[in-house]
Amino acid sequence: MKQVLCIDVGRSRAADFHSETLHDWNIHFVDSLADARRLLRTRVYGVGLVLHDGLADARELAGFLRQHGHLQWVGIFAPHALDSPGCHDLILEHLCDYHTLPVDPVRLGYTLGHAHGWAMLRRHPRVHVEDTGLDATALVGDGAAMLRLRNQIDRVAKVAAPVLIWGESGSGKELAAQAIHAQSERAGGPFVPINCGAIAPSLIHSELFGYERGAFSGATRAKAGLIESAHGGTLFLDEIGDLPQELQVNLLRFLQEKTISRLGSTRAIAVDVRIVAASHVQLQDAVDAGVFREDLYYRLAVLPLAIPALRERRDDLPLLAEHFFRRYASEKSPRLRGFSHRALEAMLDHAWPGNVRELINRVRRALVMADGRLITPDDLGLAAGAVAGTAPLDDARGRSERGALLESLERSGRNVSLAARELGVSRTTMYRLMDKHSLRE
Ligand SMILES: Nc1ncnc2c1ncn2[C@@H]1O[C@H](COP(=O)(O)OP(=O)(O)OP(=O)(O)O)[C@@H](O)[C@H]1O
Ligand SMILES: [Mg+2]
Repeated sequence: MKQVLCIDVGRSRAADFHSETLHDWNIHFVDSLADARRLLRTRVYGVGLVLHDGLADARELAGFLRQHGHLQWVGIFAPHALDSPGCHDLILEHLCDYHTLPVDPVRLGYTLGHAHGWAMLRRHPRVHVEDTGLDATALVGDGAAMLRLRNQIDRVAKVAAPVLIWGESGSGKELAAQAIHAQSERAGGPFVPINCGAIAPSLIHSELFGYERGAFSGATRAKAGLIESAHGGTLFLDEIGDLPQELQVNLLRFLQEKTISRLGSTRAIAVDVRIVAASHVQLQDAVDAGVFREDLYYRLAVLPLAIPALRERRDDLPLLAEHFFRRYASEKSPRLRGFSHRALEAMLDHAWPGNVRELINRVRRALVMADGRLITPDDLGLAAGAVAGTAPLDDARGRSERGALLESLERSGRNVSLAARELGVSRTTMYRLMDKHSLRE
């Protein structure tokens, strides 16, 4: 039986429509907002009914409905109540439909059915806004692929062996690494991420392993490296494929011996860290191409974990879109209620080359662009005719990335190493970016 929460402040008209016609609905009546709040904390509703006799404080009601915007709300008004401006705003901003007394039960049945359909489509998590949904580290999704992934994360979190995460750009590799850490017995220790592709090759060694005073000119005092700082926790080696070959040897030695020595010292320091590495390229290919050490690969890939691309788990799209809609709610206009049916369809049709990160960008853009109460395909940059996979934000990022590469290459006289250093990326990354923007001669 479908459930509906009915708020009838003043118990004015409850009996009027509690009719046989709504026989497939289980209606839970409350006569105060406080009781409604209490019920909403313990039960899950997709649809709510508000009875308004014109006397209740419309502003208080509006505040309540705003907090519980994840339900589809239907209003029932005394005819004279509609004259008040407060009621107009209430209807426009918070209700998906309204009726006036006396209620036509057949039409109300249709309305509630429709609202229920929408609520199902929006498929909210079983908890409401104040409690959660804003947790930036939660892995959202309840499709089969996501359940499988969560299951794998649970398993690998319990053991100490290295994990190698593979997934397309923006698919959630770092989030998965954080989840592994958070569920492991090291959760109380540090989670230290390092992006091997973003640190200049000349600096990676000292960043990872640290240095002693006087190890090189400018080393005026000793400094612990990132590996040491992860002691008792997890070290997340992102874009491990970008680790320069000479450092691959050092990392391998660390994995074998569980000790490091800082630059400028031969003293071995024992460090207890769990390694989680990630790559957006198949590391096996890099091994085959001779740019990644095979022995290191096997050390790292004890527990391989593949993050499915977003297009392979489209069933998660409504939930994810809703999640980001709420996460970035402060960027939206108060009128905006959610996604239109066509927007959801457009999302289901899109190929999502940029995966979850692209979804975040599109939703944030839509929050800013939307004029109406519901987000349209156009707001998402997914209107028919739009070029698939190029959200304006991505466009802008692509353009500025290309511009930065061009300028840096020009300044360095097309010296790739120099340009890479200037931009703070590895040479491998630099070549990848140059290929991406067709800048290789
Ligand atoms: N299942 C998910 N639920 C909620 N948020 C997610 C999910 N997957 C990814 N995200 C979010 O998407 C964004 C991209 O995820 P993340 O940084 O983990 O991807 P990545 O694979 O490391 O990307 P890149 O290859 O670009 O570094 C982050 O903001 C992350 O919080
Ligand atoms: Mg990442």
